[in-house]
Amino acid sequence: MIYLENISKTYGAGANTVHALQNVNLHIPQGRIHGVIGLSGAGKSTLIRCVNLLERPSTGKVSVDGQDMTALSPQALNKARHRIGMIFQHFNLLTTRTVFDNIALPLELMGETRSTIRQRVEPLLELVGLVDKANQYPAQLSGGQKQRVAIARALASKPNVLLCDEATSALDPQTTGSILELLRDINKKLGLTILLITHEMDVVKSICHRVSLISDGELVEDAEVGDFFTAPRTQLGREFLNDFLQLEPPKELIERLSPDAGTNTHPVVRLTFSGDAVSTPLISKLARECEVDVSILQAKVESIQDRTLGLMIAELLGTPQQTRDAMAYLESHQLQIEVLGHVQRNA
Ligand SMILES: Nc1ncnc2c1ncn2[C@@H]1O[C@H](COP(=O)(O)OP(=O)(O)O)[C@@H](O)[C@H]1O
Ligand SMILES: [Mg+2]
Repeated sequence: MIYLENISKTYGAGANTVHALQNVNLHIPQGRIHGVIGLSGAGKSTLIRCVNLLERPSTGKVSVDGQDMTALSPQALNKARHRIGMIFQHFNLLTTRTVFDNIALPLELMGETRSTIRQRVEPLLELVGLVDKANQYPAQLSGGQKQRVAIARALASKPNVLLCDEATSALDPQTTGSILELLRDINKKLGLTILLITHEMDVVKSICHRVSLISDGELVEDAEVGDFFTAPRTQLGREFLNDFLQLEPPKELIERLSPDAGTNTHPVVRLTFSGDAVSTPLISKLARECEVDVSILQAKVESIQDRTLGLMIAELLGTPQQTRDAMAYLESHQLQIEVLGHVQRNA
């Protein structure tokens, strides 16, 4: 449905050149919800704006629903954009128009008659739950209601793609939840393909099927959400995951951690396990088979899509040989192990 092929985008020239996107390849099949996550300035907005050519890529090809967007005449591009709805962080509503008239705007621009517009806007008001607000103005609405108006407006021209640029970033967590639920609903009911960009793992977790990680203009990961959350492949991916899970060792322990193993130290490890490993009594087996003691400092279990993810921060207590054996044992059971450091054995 959406194909980005080898997209690059540079802003400025000479010493001021910014490489906002570099060799981005992305395919989003029909009916999927695809997230792109990254830090501020990574190139997320540039990426999403390249899909409907609000930004023209410097090089590369964009195709949506079988149409090569980069090759279209201005008129044809305008028409193609009717099939691509977009919503924004700050809603971008017209303050002097009522809710009804905001939603009607794209239809007016397409030259639809008043009666066609009414027939189209009324069910949209119903879909987003704002029938009773039709004649109010944006200033009278909450943030969540404004985003609902923006969603209805984006759907007015019956698009088959919806682009969401940080659509919930200005909303509180509860409102975010209800907007994401609405997007999920629309995806199911209308079969709409959704590309959304966000800096929040919660958003990816609660709505996306697949996710790409963008870093300095490059897509560095592309994975099913369950895989990304259970086994990110890059350091940045792991940082996003750890932030989301908020599983860091206690502060007083961090202060005592040394990067090097000494003669009288033991390792502190972060274990991530998924699938079968979550339900097996691995830790007690580990203690028996490798003769180490495991002191659990923190632990957490999360459900992501149909997957379960377990996390644990633990100290492995034993001789150097025993703790090496223990780590090899864990790795052979598909656990991800990260050695956070070593602490001096208490006297
Ligand atoms: N119109 C522009 N002119 C110059 N630089 C820009 C422009 N838009 C974005 N950039 C730069 O491109 C990079 C990516 O920006 P952006 O796509 O907005 O990132 P994000 O949405 O991930 O925060 C940043 O370094 C930003 O400063
Ligand atoms: Mg942005």
